[in-house]
Amino acid sequence: MPQINNSNSLDKIVALCKRRGFVFPSSEIYDGFTAVYDFGPYGVELANNIKKEWWRTMTQLRDDVVGLDSAIFMSPKIWEASGHVKGFSDPLTECKKCHTRLRLDALLEEAGIFADEKMSEEKINQIFSENKNKIKCPICGASDFTPGKKFNLLVQSNLGNFTNDWAKEPTYLRGETCQGIYVNFKNVLDSARVKIPFGIAQIGKAFRNEITARQFIFRTREFEQMEMQYFVKPGDDLKYYEEWKAARWKFYLDLGIEEKNLKWHKHENLVFYAREAYDIEYNFPFGFKELEGVHARGDYDLTQHSKFSGQDLQYLDPATNEKFIPHIVETSAGVGRIFLAILTEAYQEETIESETRIVLRLSPKLAPIKIAVFPLLKNKPELVNKAREIFNVLKISWRCEFDDNGNIGKRYRRQDEIGTPYCVTVDFDSLENEEVTVRDRDSMKQERIHISELERFFREKI
Ligand code: GAP
Repeated sequence: MPQINNSNSLDKIVALCKRRGFVFPSSEIYDGFTAVYDFGPYGVELANNIKKEWWRTMTQLRDDVVGLDSAIFMSPKIWEASGHVKGFSDPLTECKKCHTRLRLDALLEEAGIFADEKMSEEKINQIFSENKNKIKCPICGASDFTPGKKFNLLVQSNLGNFTNDWAKEPTYLRGETCQGIYVNFKNVLDSARVKIPFGIAQIGKAFRNEITARQFIFRTREFEQMEMQYFVKPGDDLKYYEEWKAARWKFYLDLGIEEKNLKWHKHENLVFYAREAYDIEYNFPFGFKELEGVHARGDYDLTQHSKFSGQDLQYLDPATNEKFIPHIVETSAGVGRIFLAILTEAYQEETIESETRIVLRLSPKLAPIKIAVFPLLKNKPELVNKAREIFNVLKISWRCEFDDNGNIGKRYRRQDEIGTPYCVTVDFDSLENEEVTVRDRDSMKQERIHISELERFFREKI
Protein backbone atom coordinates (compact mmCIF):
# COMPACT_ATOMS: atom_id res chain seq x y z
CA MET A 1 0.00 0.00 0.00
CA PRO A 2 1.43 3.42 -0.86
CA GLN A 3 1.88 5.95 1.94
CA ILE A 4 -0.16 9.05 1.18
CA ASN A 5 0.93 12.54 2.13
CA ASN A 6 -1.88 15.07 1.97
CA SER A 7 0.00 18.11 3.21
CA ASN A 8 -0.32 20.28 0.15
CA SER A 9 1.71 23.40 0.33
CA LEU A 10 0.98 26.18 -2.10
CA ASP A 11 4.60 26.03 -3.30
CA LYS A 12 4.21 22.43 -4.45
CA ILE A 13 1.05 23.25 -6.37
CA VAL A 14 2.62 26.33 -7.98
CA ALA A 15 5.64 24.24 -9.00
CA LEU A 16 3.44 21.52 -10.52
CA CYS A 17 1.43 24.15 -12.40
CA LYS A 18 4.58 25.57 -14.00
CA ARG A 19 6.29 22.22 -14.62
CA ARG A 20 3.31 20.57 -16.25
CA GLY A 21 1.82 23.53 -18.10
CA PHE A 22 -1.24 24.38 -16.01
CA VAL A 23 -0.47 28.00 -15.08
CA PHE A 24 2.30 30.39 -16.13
CA PRO A 25 3.02 33.86 -14.71
CA SER A 26 1.92 36.44 -17.28
CA SER A 27 4.59 38.09 -19.48
CA GLU A 28 7.26 35.94 -17.86
CA ILE A 29 9.98 36.64 -20.45
CA TYR A 30 9.58 40.34 -19.57
CA ASP A 31 10.00 39.65 -15.83
CA GLY A 32 6.30 39.07 -15.33
CA PHE A 33 3.26 41.26 -14.76
CA THR A 34 1.99 41.28 -11.19
CA ALA A 35 -1.26 39.53 -10.32
CA VAL A 36 -1.98 38.27 -13.83
CA TYR A 37 -1.56 34.64 -14.93
CA ASP A 38 -1.86 32.60 -18.12
CA PHE A 39 -3.38 29.14 -18.34
CA GLY A 40 -1.11 26.66 -20.18
CA PRO A 41 -2.13 23.65 -22.32
CA TYR A 42 -3.48 21.54 -19.42
CA GLY A 43 -4.69 24.55 -17.44
CA VAL A 44 -6.96 25.73 -20.22
CA GLU A 45 -8.47 22.23 -20.43
CA LEU A 46 -9.08 22.11 -16.67
CA ALA A 47 -10.52 25.64 -16.59
CA ASN A 48 -12.77 24.83 -19.56
CA ASN A 49 -13.98 21.64 -17.85
CA ILE A 50 -14.84 23.63 -14.69
CA LYS A 51 -16.77 26.16 -16.77
CA LYS A 52 -18.48 23.38 -18.73
CA GLU A 53 -19.67 21.74 -15.48
CA TRP A 54 -20.95 25.07 -14.13
CA TRP A 55 -22.74 25.92 -17.39
CA ARG A 56 -24.28 22.45 -17.61
CA THR A 57 -25.47 22.58 -13.99
CA MET A 58 -26.79 26.11 -14.30
CA THR A 59 -28.45 26.06 -17.71
CA GLN A 60 -28.74 22.58 -19.25
CA LEU A 61 -29.99 20.81 -16.12
CA ARG A 62 -32.51 23.57 -15.28
CA ASP A 63 -35.38 24.96 -17.27
CA ASP A 64 -35.49 28.27 -15.40
CA VAL A 65 -32.01 29.67 -16.17
CA VAL A 66 -30.84 31.04 -19.53
CA GLY A 67 -27.38 32.10 -20.61
CA LEU A 68 -25.86 35.41 -21.67
CA ASP A 69 -22.50 36.71 -22.87
CA SER A 70 -22.43 40.47 -22.46
CA ALA A 71 -19.52 42.67 -23.54
CA ILE A 72 -16.67 43.53 -21.20
CA PHE A 73 -17.00 47.23 -22.02
CA MET A 74 -20.26 48.92 -21.14
CA SER A 75 -21.57 52.43 -20.75
CA PRO A 76 -19.67 54.13 -17.89
CA LYS A 77 -23.07 55.14 -16.48
CA ILE A 78 -23.60 51.51 -15.46
CA TRP A 79 -20.73 51.76 -13.00
CA GLU A 80 -22.14 54.96 -11.55
CA ALA A 81 -25.58 53.39 -11.16
CA SER A 82 -24.14 50.28 -9.52
CA GLY A 83 -22.20 52.35 -6.99
CA HIS A 84 -18.79 51.13 -8.18
CA VAL A 85 -17.45 54.55 -9.21
CA LYS A 86 -18.04 55.91 -5.73
CA GLY A 87 -17.80 52.91 -3.49
CA PHE A 88 -15.94 49.96 -5.02
CA SER A 89 -12.79 50.30 -2.98
CA ASP A 90 -10.46 48.60 -0.55
CA PRO A 91 -8.67 50.33 2.32
CA LEU A 92 -5.06 51.05 1.32
CA THR A 93 -2.06 51.86 3.47
CA GLU A 94 1.64 52.24 2.69
CA CYS A 95 4.59 51.04 4.75
CA LYS A 96 6.59 54.20 5.47
CA LYS A 97 9.86 52.28 5.46
CA CYS A 98 9.77 50.10 2.32
CA HIS A 99 6.84 51.89 0.58
CA THR A 100 4.96 48.67 -0.10
CA ARG A 101 1.25 49.30 -0.60
CA LEU A 102 -0.91 46.98 1.43
CA ARG A 103 -4.57 46.23 2.07
CA LEU A 104 -5.36 47.46 5.52
CA ASP A 105 -8.15 44.96 6.23
CA ALA A 106 -5.84 42.08 5.21
CA LEU A 107 -3.05 43.38 7.47
CA LEU A 108 -5.45 43.55 10.41
CA GLU A 109 -6.87 40.13 9.64
CA GLU A 110 -3.37 38.61 9.50
CA ALA A 111 -2.71 40.03 12.96
CA GLY A 112 -5.89 38.30 14.19
CA ILE A 113 -7.96 41.51 14.35
CA PHE A 114 -11.41 41.40 12.79
CA ALA A 115 -11.86 43.79 9.84
CA ASP A 116 -13.25 43.64 6.33
CA GLU A 117 -13.17 45.67 3.16
CA LYS A 118 -16.78 46.79 3.54
CA MET A 119 -16.05 48.79 6.72
CA SER A 120 -16.05 52.58 6.43
CA GLU A 121 -12.74 54.42 6.21
CA GLU A 122 -13.27 55.92 9.68
CA LYS A 123 -14.09 52.59 11.27
CA ILE A 124 -11.13 50.73 9.80
CA ASN A 125 -8.71 53.57 10.65
CA GLN A 126 -10.00 53.54 14.22
CA ILE A 127 -9.33 49.79 14.53
CA PHE A 128 -5.96 50.37 12.85
CA SER A 129 -4.81 53.05 15.28
CA GLU A 130 -6.02 51.05 18.29
CA ASN A 131 -3.86 48.10 17.17
CA LYS A 132 -0.91 49.86 15.53
CA ASN A 133 1.78 48.18 17.60
CA LYS A 134 0.48 44.70 16.72
CA ILE A 135 0.82 45.20 12.96
CA LYS A 136 4.02 44.67 11.01
CA CYS A 137 4.83 45.11 7.33
CA PRO A 138 5.04 41.59 5.82
CA ILE A 139 7.88 42.76 3.55
CA CYS A 140 10.28 44.68 5.86
CA GLY A 141 8.85 44.08 9.35
CA ALA A 142 8.45 47.81 10.17
CA SER A 143 5.32 49.01 11.92
CA ASP A 144 5.05 52.54 10.62
CA PHE A 145 2.21 53.05 8.14
CA THR A 146 0.36 55.90 6.45
CA PRO A 147 -3.29 56.33 7.52
CA GLY A 148 -5.69 54.09 5.56
CA LYS A 149 -7.53 55.54 2.62
CA LYS A 150 -10.05 54.09 0.22
CA PHE A 151 -8.60 52.98 -3.11
CA ASN A 152 -11.04 52.43 -6.00
CA LEU A 153 -10.62 49.05 -7.69
CA LEU A 154 -12.21 49.83 -11.05
CA VAL A 155 -9.78 49.52 -13.97
CA GLN A 156 -10.01 52.46 -16.40
CA SER A 157 -9.51 52.66 -20.14
CA ASN A 158 -9.70 55.15 -23.04
CA LEU A 159 -11.96 52.97 -25.21
CA GLY A 160 -13.92 55.22 -27.57
CA ASN A 161 -12.32 58.40 -26.22
CA PHE A 162 -9.80 59.95 -28.61
CA THR A 163 -8.72 62.90 -26.48
CA ASN A 164 -5.62 63.10 -24.34
CA ASP A 165 -7.53 63.75 -21.15
CA TRP A 166 -9.66 60.62 -21.37
CA ALA A 167 -8.98 59.92 -17.68
CA LYS A 168 -11.52 62.64 -16.84
CA GLU A 169 -14.25 60.55 -18.48
CA PRO A 170 -12.93 57.01 -18.51
CA THR A 171 -14.66 53.86 -19.63
CA TYR A 172 -14.16 50.89 -17.34
CA LEU A 173 -13.23 47.28 -17.74
CA ARG A 174 -16.03 45.53 -15.90
CA GLY A 175 -15.39 44.92 -12.21
CA GLU A 176 -17.99 42.12 -12.09
CA THR A 177 -19.91 40.31 -14.81
CA CYS A 178 -23.36 40.59 -13.22
CA GLN A 179 -23.88 44.22 -14.32
CA GLY A 180 -24.14 42.94 -17.90
CA ILE A 181 -26.95 40.67 -16.69
CA TYR A 182 -28.92 43.46 -14.95
CA VAL A 183 -28.80 45.77 -17.95
CA ASN A 184 -30.01 42.96 -20.23
CA PHE A 185 -32.83 41.92 -17.90
CA LYS A 186 -35.49 43.49 -20.11
CA ASN A 187 -33.97 42.17 -23.36
CA VAL A 188 -34.02 38.63 -22.00
CA LEU A 189 -37.52 39.04 -20.60
CA ASP A 190 -38.82 40.27 -23.97
CA SER A 191 -37.08 37.63 -26.06
CA ALA A 192 -36.62 34.39 -24.15
CA ARG A 193 -40.14 33.45 -22.96
CA VAL A 194 -39.06 33.44 -19.34
CA LYS A 195 -41.29 34.02 -16.34
CA ILE A 196 -40.38 34.91 -12.81
CA PRO A 197 -38.75 33.16 -11.03
CA PHE A 198 -35.96 32.77 -13.57
CA GLY A 199 -32.21 33.23 -13.77
CA ILE A 200 -29.58 34.52 -16.18
CA ALA A 201 -26.13 32.92 -16.10
CA GLN A 202 -22.92 34.30 -17.50
CA ILE A 203 -19.23 33.38 -17.57
CA GLY A 204 -16.69 36.06 -18.37
CA LYS A 205 -13.67 38.12 -17.49
CA ALA A 206 -13.66 40.75 -14.77
CA PHE A 207 -10.91 43.20 -13.80
CA ARG A 208 -9.98 44.77 -10.48
CA ASN A 209 -7.03 46.88 -9.46
CA GLU A 210 -6.33 44.64 -6.47
CA ILE A 211 -3.88 46.30 -4.06
CA THR A 212 -2.10 43.24 -2.86
CA ALA A 213 -1.58 40.24 -5.01
CA ARG A 214 -0.46 37.11 -3.23
CA GLN A 215 -1.53 33.50 -2.98
CA PHE A 216 -1.01 32.65 -6.64
CA ILE A 217 -4.25 32.68 -8.69
CA PHE A 218 -6.45 33.21 -5.63
CA ARG A 219 -6.53 36.99 -6.08
CA THR A 220 -5.64 38.33 -9.50
CA ARG A 221 -6.27 41.60 -11.32
CA GLU A 222 -7.77 39.85 -14.35
CA PHE A 223 -9.98 36.87 -13.58
CA GLU A 224 -13.03 35.00 -14.73
CA GLN A 225 -16.35 34.94 -12.93
CA MET A 226 -19.29 32.56 -13.25
CA GLU A 227 -22.32 34.49 -12.07
CA MET A 228 -26.03 33.75 -11.99
CA GLN A 229 -28.72 36.26 -11.09
CA TYR A 230 -32.09 34.77 -10.14
CA PHE A 231 -35.06 37.16 -10.40
CA VAL A 232 -37.85 36.54 -7.90
CA LYS A 233 -41.04 38.11 -6.64
CA PRO A 234 -40.46 40.40 -3.61
CA GLY A 235 -41.00 38.32 -0.50
CA ASP A 236 -39.84 35.09 -2.15
CA ASP A 237 -36.16 36.01 -1.75
CA LEU A 238 -35.30 33.97 1.27
CA LYS A 239 -37.02 30.81 0.04
CA TYR A 240 -35.03 30.82 -3.22
CA TYR A 241 -31.95 31.95 -1.36
CA GLU A 242 -31.98 28.75 0.69
CA GLU A 243 -32.54 26.67 -2.47
CA TRP A 244 -29.56 28.29 -4.19
CA LYS A 245 -27.36 27.84 -1.14
CA ALA A 246 -28.08 24.11 -1.19
CA ALA A 247 -27.56 23.87 -4.96
CA ARG A 248 -24.22 25.65 -4.86
CA TRP A 249 -22.93 23.51 -1.98
CA LYS A 250 -23.84 20.36 -3.92
CA PHE A 251 -21.99 21.65 -7.00
CA TYR A 252 -18.68 21.49 -5.14
CA LEU A 253 -19.36 18.02 -3.76
CA ASP A 254 -20.16 16.87 -7.31
CA LEU A 255 -16.78 18.21 -8.47
CA GLY A 256 -15.15 15.86 -5.98
CA ILE A 257 -14.43 18.29 -3.12
CA GLU A 258 -14.67 16.71 0.31
CA GLU A 259 -17.31 18.30 2.53
CA LYS A 260 -14.82 18.72 5.39
CA ASN A 261 -12.90 21.16 3.21
CA LEU A 262 -15.90 23.45 2.68
CA LYS A 263 -17.64 25.79 5.07
CA TRP A 264 -20.16 28.62 5.11
CA HIS A 265 -19.12 32.09 6.18
CA LYS A 266 -21.92 34.49 7.07
CA HIS A 267 -21.29 38.17 6.27
CA GLU A 268 -21.75 40.22 9.41
CA ASN A 269 -21.27 43.62 7.73
CA LEU A 270 -23.93 43.54 5.03
CA VAL A 271 -24.01 46.32 2.42
CA PHE A 272 -27.13 48.38 3.06
CA TYR A 273 -29.29 46.79 0.31
CA ALA A 274 -28.35 43.15 0.95
CA ARG A 275 -30.80 40.93 2.79
CA GLU A 276 -28.49 37.98 3.37
CA ALA A 277 -24.96 37.11 2.27
CA TYR A 278 -22.94 33.96 2.77
CA ASP A 279 -19.71 32.78 1.19
CA ILE A 280 -18.71 29.21 0.52
CA GLU A 281 -15.15 28.91 1.75
CA TYR A 282 -12.59 26.28 0.81
CA ASN A 283 -9.69 25.02 2.88
CA PHE A 284 -6.87 26.35 0.67
CA PRO A 285 -3.22 25.68 1.66
CA PHE A 286 -3.35 29.15 3.32
CA GLY A 287 -6.56 28.43 5.23
CA PHE A 288 -10.33 28.70 4.66
CA LYS A 289 -11.02 31.48 2.13
CA GLU A 290 -13.87 32.56 -0.12
CA LEU A 291 -14.65 30.44 -3.16
CA GLU A 292 -18.10 31.74 -4.02
CA GLY A 293 -20.64 34.25 -2.74
CA VAL A 294 -24.38 33.60 -2.48
CA HIS A 295 -26.18 36.89 -1.92
CA ALA A 296 -29.77 38.05 -1.57
CA ARG A 297 -29.49 41.53 -3.11
CA GLY A 298 -33.08 42.73 -2.82
CA ASP A 299 -34.27 45.12 -5.57
CA TYR A 300 -31.19 47.36 -5.41
CA ASP A 301 -29.64 46.54 -8.79
CA LEU A 302 -32.70 46.87 -11.02
CA THR A 303 -33.92 49.93 -9.06
CA GLN A 304 -30.59 51.68 -9.61
CA HIS A 305 -30.49 50.88 -13.32
CA SER A 306 -34.10 51.97 -13.68
CA LYS A 307 -33.26 55.28 -12.03
CA PHE A 308 -30.08 55.98 -13.98
CA SER A 309 -31.31 54.78 -17.40
CA GLY A 310 -34.84 56.15 -17.12
CA GLN A 311 -36.17 52.77 -18.34
CA ASP A 312 -38.98 50.93 -16.61
CA LEU A 313 -37.45 47.66 -15.41
CA GLN A 314 -40.55 46.44 -13.62
CA TYR A 315 -41.96 43.00 -14.26
CA LEU A 316 -45.62 42.56 -15.10
CA ASP A 317 -46.90 39.35 -13.56
CA PRO A 318 -49.15 37.82 -16.27
CA ALA A 319 -51.16 35.88 -13.69
CA THR A 320 -51.98 38.73 -11.28
CA ASN A 321 -51.29 41.85 -13.37
CA GLU A 322 -49.06 43.06 -10.52
CA LYS A 323 -46.07 45.20 -11.45
CA PHE A 324 -42.90 45.06 -9.40
CA ILE A 325 -39.13 45.38 -9.52
CA PRO A 326 -37.87 41.81 -9.09
CA HIS A 327 -35.59 40.94 -6.21
CA ILE A 328 -32.34 39.15 -6.97
CA VAL A 329 -30.56 36.12 -5.55
CA GLU A 330 -27.01 36.00 -6.83
CA THR A 331 -24.47 33.20 -7.00
CA SER A 332 -20.98 34.38 -7.90
CA ALA A 333 -17.91 32.18 -8.25
CA GLY A 334 -14.40 32.67 -9.59
CA VAL A 335 -12.98 30.18 -12.10
CA GLY A 336 -9.40 30.67 -10.83
CA ARG A 337 -10.38 30.02 -7.23
CA ILE A 338 -12.25 26.83 -8.10
CA PHE A 339 -9.25 25.80 -10.24
CA LEU A 340 -6.93 26.27 -7.25
CA ALA A 341 -9.35 24.48 -4.90
CA ILE A 342 -9.62 21.54 -7.30
CA LEU A 343 -5.82 21.26 -7.56
CA THR A 344 -5.43 21.53 -3.77
CA GLU A 345 -8.00 18.79 -3.31
CA ALA A 346 -6.54 16.51 -5.97
CA TYR A 347 -2.79 16.85 -5.27
CA GLN A 348 -1.29 13.88 -3.49
CA GLU A 349 2.18 12.57 -2.91
CA GLU A 350 2.55 8.85 -2.36
CA THR A 351 5.60 6.93 -1.33
CA ILE A 352 5.87 3.65 -3.24
CA GLU A 353 8.94 1.52 -2.58
CA SER A 354 10.84 4.60 -1.38
CA GLU A 355 9.92 6.56 -4.51
CA THR A 356 7.54 9.52 -4.53
CA ARG A 357 4.62 9.48 -6.91
CA ILE A 358 2.83 12.82 -7.40
CA VAL A 359 -0.72 12.27 -8.54
CA LEU A 360 -3.65 14.56 -9.24
CA ARG A 361 -6.74 12.62 -8.25
CA LEU A 362 -9.05 14.71 -10.41
CA SER A 363 -12.58 13.66 -11.12
CA PRO A 364 -12.53 12.24 -14.71
CA LYS A 365 -14.97 14.94 -15.82
CA LEU A 366 -12.44 17.62 -14.84
CA ALA A 367 -9.22 15.87 -15.92
CA PRO A 368 -7.54 17.78 -18.78
CA ILE A 369 -6.68 14.51 -20.54
CA LYS A 370 -9.03 11.56 -20.09
CA ILE A 371 -6.96 8.83 -21.79
CA ALA A 372 -3.28 8.61 -22.76
CA VAL A 373 -2.30 6.09 -25.45
CA PHE A 374 1.24 4.68 -25.63
CA PRO A 375 3.08 2.28 -27.91
CA LEU A 376 5.41 0.24 -25.69
CA LEU A 377 8.41 1.19 -27.86
CA LYS A 378 8.92 4.23 -30.02
CA ASN A 379 11.12 2.54 -32.60
CA LYS A 380 8.74 -0.28 -33.55
CA PRO A 381 6.47 1.03 -36.33
CA GLU A 382 3.96 -1.81 -35.90
CA LEU A 383 3.38 -0.79 -32.24
CA VAL A 384 3.29 2.93 -33.06
CA ASN A 385 0.81 2.39 -35.90
CA LYS A 386 -1.50 0.26 -33.76
CA ALA A 387 -1.39 2.81 -30.91
CA ARG A 388 -2.11 5.64 -33.40
CA GLU A 389 -5.11 3.71 -34.73
CA ILE A 390 -6.55 3.41 -31.19
CA PHE A 391 -5.75 7.05 -30.40
CA ASN A 392 -7.51 8.20 -33.58
CA VAL A 393 -10.69 6.37 -32.57
CA LEU A 394 -10.73 7.38 -28.89
CA LYS A 395 -9.93 11.06 -29.54
CA ILE A 396 -13.28 11.49 -31.29
CA SER A 397 -15.09 11.01 -27.97
CA TRP A 398 -12.51 12.07 -25.36
CA ARG A 399 -9.60 14.48 -24.98
CA CYS A 400 -6.70 12.03 -25.42
CA GLU A 401 -2.94 12.29 -25.62
CA PHE A 402 -0.51 10.19 -27.64
CA ASP A 403 2.91 9.72 -26.03
CA ASP A 404 5.85 7.60 -27.17
CA ASN A 405 8.61 9.43 -25.25
CA GLY A 406 10.79 7.74 -22.64
CA ASN A 407 10.10 4.53 -20.76
CA ILE A 408 6.58 3.47 -19.81
CA GLY A 409 7.15 4.16 -16.09
CA LYS A 410 8.06 7.79 -16.83
CA ARG A 411 5.07 8.18 -19.13
CA TYR A 412 2.75 6.90 -16.37
CA ARG A 413 4.26 9.35 -13.86
CA ARG A 414 3.78 12.25 -16.23
CA GLN A 415 0.13 11.36 -16.77
CA ASP A 416 -0.34 10.89 -12.99
CA GLU A 417 0.92 14.44 -12.45
CA ILE A 418 -1.60 15.91 -14.87
CA GLY A 419 -4.42 13.75 -13.50
CA THR A 420 -5.10 11.47 -16.51
CA PRO A 421 -7.43 8.75 -15.19
CA TYR A 422 -6.48 6.04 -17.76
CA CYS A 423 -3.47 5.01 -19.82
CA VAL A 424 -3.63 2.49 -22.68
CA THR A 425 -0.45 0.65 -23.71
CA VAL A 426 0.01 -1.29 -26.92
CA ASP A 427 2.63 -4.06 -26.68
CA PHE A 428 3.75 -6.99 -28.83
CA ASP A 429 0.96 -9.24 -27.53
CA SER A 430 -1.57 -6.60 -28.69
CA LEU A 431 -0.48 -7.31 -32.27
CA GLU A 432 -1.36 -10.98 -31.79
CA ASN A 433 -4.48 -10.93 -29.63
CA GLU A 434 -5.89 -7.37 -30.08
CA GLU A 435 -5.70 -6.78 -26.32
CA VAL A 436 -4.13 -3.72 -24.69
CA THR A 437 -3.16 -2.83 -21.10
CA VAL A 438 -5.41 -0.27 -19.43
CA ARG A 439 -3.87 1.25 -16.32
CA ASP A 440 -5.95 3.02 -13.68
CA ARG A 441 -4.40 6.24 -12.25
CA ASP A 442 -5.66 5.86 -8.68
CA SER A 443 -5.18 2.15 -8.00
CA MET A 444 -2.34 1.75 -10.56
CA LYS A 445 -4.00 -1.60 -11.38
CA GLN A 446 -3.60 -2.86 -14.92
CA GLU A 447 -6.05 -4.98 -16.89
CA ARG A 448 -6.09 -6.39 -20.39
CA ILE A 449 -8.98 -5.22 -22.53
CA HIS A 450 -9.88 -6.14 -26.10
CA ILE A 451 -9.49 -3.17 -28.44
CA SER A 452 -13.06 -3.56 -29.67
CA GLU A 453 -14.26 -3.19 -26.04
CA LEU A 454 -12.30 0.01 -25.25
CA GLU A 455 -14.98 2.54 -26.15
CA ARG A 456 -17.63 0.75 -24.12
CA PHE A 457 -15.20 0.43 -21.18
CA PHE A 458 -14.36 4.16 -21.15
CA ARG A 459 -17.96 5.19 -21.68
CA GLU A 460 -18.81 3.42 -18.42
CA LYS A 461 -15.80 4.82 -16.54
CA ILE A 462 -15.62 8.43 -17.65
N1 GAP B 1 -21.17 40.18 -8.25
C1 GAP B 1 -20.71 39.91 -6.95
C2 GAP B 1 -19.27 39.83 -6.85
O1 GAP B 1 -18.55 40.11 -7.80
P1 GAP B 1 -17.33 39.25 -5.20
O2 GAP B 1 -17.37 38.59 -3.86
O3 GAP B 1 -16.61 40.52 -5.32
O4 GAP B 1 -18.84 39.40 -5.64
C3 GAP B 1 -17.34 36.97 -6.47
O5 GAP B 1 -16.72 38.21 -6.24
C4 GAP B 1 -16.33 35.88 -6.70
O6 GAP B 1 -15.40 36.27 -7.72
C5 GAP B 1 -15.47 35.58 -5.48
O7 GAP B 1 -16.10 34.66 -4.61
C6 GAP B 1 -14.23 34.98 -6.12
O8 GAP B 1 -14.42 33.61 -6.40
C7 GAP B 1 -14.12 35.75 -7.42
N2 GAP B 1 -13.17 36.86 -7.30
C8 GAP B 1 -13.41 38.10 -6.83
N3 GAP B 1 -12.31 38.86 -6.88
C9 GAP B 1 -11.33 38.07 -7.40
C10 GAP B 1 -9.94 38.28 -7.71
N4 GAP B 1 -9.36 39.46 -7.54
N5 GAP B 1 -9.25 37.25 -8.21
C11 GAP B 1 -9.83 36.05 -8.42
N6 GAP B 1 -11.13 35.80 -8.16
C12 GAP B 1 -11.87 36.79 -7.66
